[in-house]
Amino acid sequence: MERDPKLITTEDGSHSLFVPDLKETYHSFHGALQESRHVFIEKGLSDYNEKFNTISIQVLEIGLGTGLNALLTAEWAQVNQVAVEMISIEAYPIPSDMVTKLNYPALLGKDHADEWFQSIHGTPWETRSEIHPLFHLRKVNSKLESYPLPSQQFQVIFFDAFAPNKQAELWELDILGKIYNSQATNSYFVTYCAKGQLKRDLKSLGYEVETLEGSPGKKEMVRAVKY
Ligand SMILES: C[S@@+](CC[C@H](N)C(=O)[O-])C[C@H]1O[C@@H](n2cnc3c(N)ncnc32)[C@H](O)[C@@H]1O
Repeated sequence: MERDPKLITTEDGSHSLFVPDLKETYHSFHGALQESRHVFIEKGLSDYNEKFNTISIQVLEIGLGTGLNALLTAEWAQVNQVAVEMISIEAYPIPSDMVTKLNYPALLGKDHADEWFQSIHGTPWETRSEIHPLFHLRKVNSKLESYPLPSQQFQVIFFDAFAPNKQAELWELDILGKIYNSQATNSYFVTYCAKGQLKRDLKSLGYEVETLEGSPGKKEMVRAVKY
């Protein structure tokens, strides 16, 4: 299903991938970089850090994809001097020739961005690897449905699956419940999706659900807090 994605350029100039079989993109066509920064970095990591003021954060990402969220997390950890441990689950890794075409390191314009991006993709699967001293990543090549998550561990969840109308199985209540159980007390779940059914399901699991302004071109996004 997720085979043979095509490289596209979104409205902020950053690349994304389009999956013809699903007729779905990996990011918002209004801007991949803008969306990732807004939803996952600002409303996820930055707000979490401001509110709970920790010296280290454990992140679980659903869908490593292009590695854009991972790269932005590496940058955030360095800028904020907060240690981040990230586990990212990916069922269908992108081909390595695609990685070299993605323009994210160039757009970040940071000294180490290129090195971090190569390392995010080049590091072995199922192994905790140092991307830089404040950012460690374990990539997991598995479907979320079959991967056993630890309980009570993560402080921030990047829920970045394909949209519910393209991949309904990852938005089912039992999967969301599995994510809820993997989260520590006082933790965030952030996603670009703001569908009513998702919000009702998250509330039924015990989250406090916030509807926040979406990334440019999108009205809303969801942040759910587990207290
Ligand atoms: C919206 S894209 C993620 C974008 C990514 N976070 C990024 O920064 O590029 C969704 C990702 O979920 C992956 N995926 C699809 N089905 C999955 C499953 N059952 N379990 C885990 N990952 C899955 C896709 O291959 C794709 O990489």
